[in-house]
Amino acid sequence: MTDDVVDGLIDAARDAASRAYAPYSGFHVGAALLLKDGSVVTGANVENASYGLTLCAETAAMAKIANEGWIGELVAVAIVGGRPEGDALLGRDPVHPCGRCRQILNEAAEQSSTDIDVHCASGDGSTVASYKLSELLPHSFGPKDLGVVNK
Ligand code: THU
Repeated sequence: MTDDVVDGLIDAARDAASRAYAPYSGFHVGAALLLKDGSVVTGANVENASYGLTLCAETAAMAKIANEGWIGELVAVAIVGGRPEGDALLGRDPVHPCGRCRQILNEAAEQSSTDIDVHCASGDGSTVASYKLSELLPHSFGPKDLGVVNK
């Protein structure tokens, strides 16, 4: 994946973060999913007054591709998060996917037979940390364990 593609994916995630609904934490997260055909699908976090019902950005984006029948098409994801101030997103540390989101991303990784690239960016854009999903979720449990996809 070229640097331009990664930068574009991070930009899409940052744009998605501007559509977060996060009145409780004030922490805006955007996720951008890159599919095999080059298309990009985004999501942002959706909080709820019953806090535990909050949807993470990655989960919101994953629901979109699953509902379109594209769960086997995922190749990479970018995540950006921080606190908004005007048009800027503040925060110097890359935002890594929570444990639940790692598991949800793993579903698509196994269905697409791809160890997906996970690019974690800071709100201010100064730092990017990149991983394979298998680094973030080693020894995963997924569709392969239920015989739904081949090992
Ligand atoms: N959040 C995400 O959207 N993705 C993650 O992987 C971690 C956390 C959101 C959930 C909540 O709305 C806010 O960040 C603070 O936890």
